[in-house]
Amino acid sequence: MEAYSGFAEVYDFLMKDIDYDVWVDYIEEIFKRRNYVPRNILELACGTGNITNRLAKKGYNITGLDISSEMLTFAKDKAYNLGVDVTYINQDMKELEFSGKVDCVLCLCDGFNYILDKDELFNIFKRIYLILQKNGLFIFDISSYYKISEVLGTNTYAENFEDVSYIWENYFDSRTDICEFDLTIFIRQDSLFKRIQESHCQRAYKIESICQLLEEIGFKSIEVFNSFTFDKPLLTDERINFVCKK
Ligand SMILES: C[S@@+](CC[C@H](N)C(=O)[O-])C[C@H]1O[C@@H](n2cnc3c(N)ncnc32)[C@H](O)[C@@H]1O
Repeated sequence: MEAYSGFAEVYDFLMKDIDYDVWVDYIEEIFKRRNYVPRNILELACGTGNITNRLAKKGYNITGLDISSEMLTFAKDKAYNLGVDVTYINQDMKELEFSGKVDCVLCLCDGFNYILDKDELFNIFKRIYLILQKNGLFIFDISSYYKISEVLGTNTYAENFEDVSYIWENYFDSRTDICEFDLTIFIRQDSLFKRIQESHCQRAYKIESICQLLEEIGFKSIEVFNSFTFDKPLLTDERINFVCKK
């Protein structure tokens, strides 16, 4: 199955321990530190809209974009239930096309690790640069090289809940820096379980190579933090947050 098709059904359940309110507070803290008040925001790889809908609720004019129509179905339902107006676009960010300019582009929870080719990542960054207003902010995170190569690495994870269980088998290839995640998910349907299988691939990027791409394109005031803090990242930090401006 395509990545994030069947998995979309259980994504929010499996992410239940992630505090998205804290995540949104962190983004707003970045705006404050930069003394910048964006009005129009584009969020790439927005998934089921956990950040998108919260930002919309706070009054930002936000568009969410994702390659998975299944993830977007959940995002739209949640926006409807929250009573917020969000535009959702089903698009591959490798072919990013957006009419008009925005004050801020976001990509959170390791969306860019799904871009397996460095030249493709470079092209996405270039498209983002064109979409941003002058001085517009670009904020994103990645799963660190350490997390992908060693924590996820060649390990297997499994959890068994009442209505959902999963087995997550990982294979990291140090020649390509790509980790393949083979996911098997069981979802209860009455007295039976439906079995779903998906493969996801993520690439591990080093901080320096991301900064090099951003600089080459012309992004300025680049800052890199251990996510959810304003501390310089350490080698064993697992999520790395980048902030820069056009
Ligand atoms: C880990 S989820 C993060 C979702 C959301 N940002 C969140 O915080 O919950 C990664 C998302 O990236 C999306 N994605 C992966 N490759 C993509 C691509 N080439 N273009 C757009 N979205 C992509 C997936 O469909 C998925 O929804």
